[in-house]
Amino acid sequence: MKKVYIETYGCQMNVNDTEVIFSILADAGYARTEVMEEADLVMANTCSIRDNAEQRIWGRIEVFHQLRKARPDVLVGIVGCMAERLKDKLLDTHKVDLVVGPDAYRSLPRLLEAVHPGSPQIDVLLSRSETYADITPVRTDRNGISAFISIMRGCNNVCSYCVVPYTRGAERSRDASTIVREACDVYARGYKEVTLLGQNVDSYLWKSATETVNFAGLLSRVAAIAPDLRVRFATSHPKDISDEVIAVMASTHNICKHIHLPVQSGSSRMLALMRRKYDREWYLERVSAIRRAMPDCGITTDVIAGFCSETLEDHAATLSLMEEVGFDWAFMFAYSDRPGTLANRTMQDDVPAEEKNRRLNEIIALQNRKSLERYRAQIGRTLEVLVEGPSKRDPAMLCGRASNNMMCVFPALLPEGASSVMPDPDRASRRPGTYTMVRVLDCTSATLICE
Ligand code: SAH
Ligand code: SF4
Ligand code: F3S
Repeated sequence: MKKVYIETYGCQMNVNDTEVIFSILADAGYARTEVMEEADLVMANTCSIRDNAEQRIWGRIEVFHQLRKARPDVLVGIVGCMAERLKDKLLDTHKVDLVVGPDAYRSLPRLLEAVHPGSPQIDVLLSRSETYADITPVRTDRNGISAFISIMRGCNNVCSYCVVPYTRGAERSRDASTIVREACDVYARGYKEVTLLGQNVDSYLWKSATETVNFAGLLSRVAAIAPDLRVRFATSHPKDISDEVIAVMASTHNICKHIHLPVQSGSSRMLALMRRKYDREWYLERVSAIRRAMPDCGITTDVIAGFCSETLEDHAATLSLMEEVGFDWAFMFAYSDRPGTLANRTMQDDVPAEEKNRRLNEIIALQNRKSLERYRAQIGRTLEVLVEGPSKRDPAMLCGRASNNMMCVFPALLPEGASSVMPDPDRASRRPGTYTMVRVLDCTSATLICE
């Protein structure tokens, strides 16, 4: 059997796509390896979201070519969003053997039959219907507890800064019954958590001859599989997150109380230029609706600093919104101009790089302070965590997430001496994949330290 090695960049959807690719390639006679040097086929599943994401991958392609110098029969494949966006450059200038876009992974076996050194193969056709619904991904997570399931592909929003609609094509939802079947299957194999993935999960809609399932309906169905199967999801769009979804979350114990709700900017003027289709007030109202229904719900976000024409006043509005909401955590980025997007074609990328970074650093400093506040507010509380395994920093500690997505660390055993008096009664309930109750004693801005 031949061996395939894949490096994955970008979002969680790409992680899941890599699992789909492993599955397709297994049928074509390729076994997965984690050692690049022993692979016959070396691939990168790529991301185009910001320029620095692409720069990293050009560097990796150089490394792949070094490998090919030593072993000329090794094939180099670039798949994913960058393959879609930069097909010609990849083939002509960078001489890769395979270029395959996000909707064309089923062609891989055919392309691999045809490819040989000097005769590259390409398929970057986008599809209106491909969801890989029938393919069982080869799980690549390390703990066997938490699995990602894609529920839709593509995106129909045209946020003016974003390359995703061009690299991933039109939005389409996956057959609900195949999603439920996949979730049942991973549960049967011992998984305790599924994360439903889409660029905009709130617009999930599946229609068959007999039924229509929206995102709230899908959440209920997946949560109904088993009371000890946790359900998470990402990403929610502020313009679309519905009261129905919030109500289903609030009333269902095993749907985790965490919403990733990217705000991008606190300035309504910026939001209009970004074509986000909501304004500051709307966003704040959605946050209030979430907190009214679920006072303990974790809320995280994405923020972009220095978008086209952003003034100091706009920037101040972002800071004040972050102050007001108090996000648990945020992904924060300097705006990166992407070729072909609406902003690239019609607006000036006019905030100088140093100024973007200065604003970004202010945003990061504020968020660090807010994260610490949010984590501190948990001290003294008792939380239910799903045990994932030993903590990375200290193997004597275990780690696991609370429903609100905060990472908790806690001792793996009772304190020294206690177990000699009597057997540790909770030991079994602290195995990976089980639920346990912890009390929060202390924290950093990213971890709750518990007993
Ligand atoms: N579908 C999700 C986000 C997908 S991309 C949503 O709509 O929220 C993840 C994040 O990358 C975005 O939320 C945004 O904050 C950031 N991002 C996207 N394009 C960017 C760009 N051109 N420059 C900087 N950050 C960008
Ligand atoms: Fe990009 Fe906007 Fe779609 Fe998110 S919703 S993927 S930011 S276009
Ligand atoms: Fe990147 Fe494509 Fe995901 S651009 S963020 S890998 S959808």
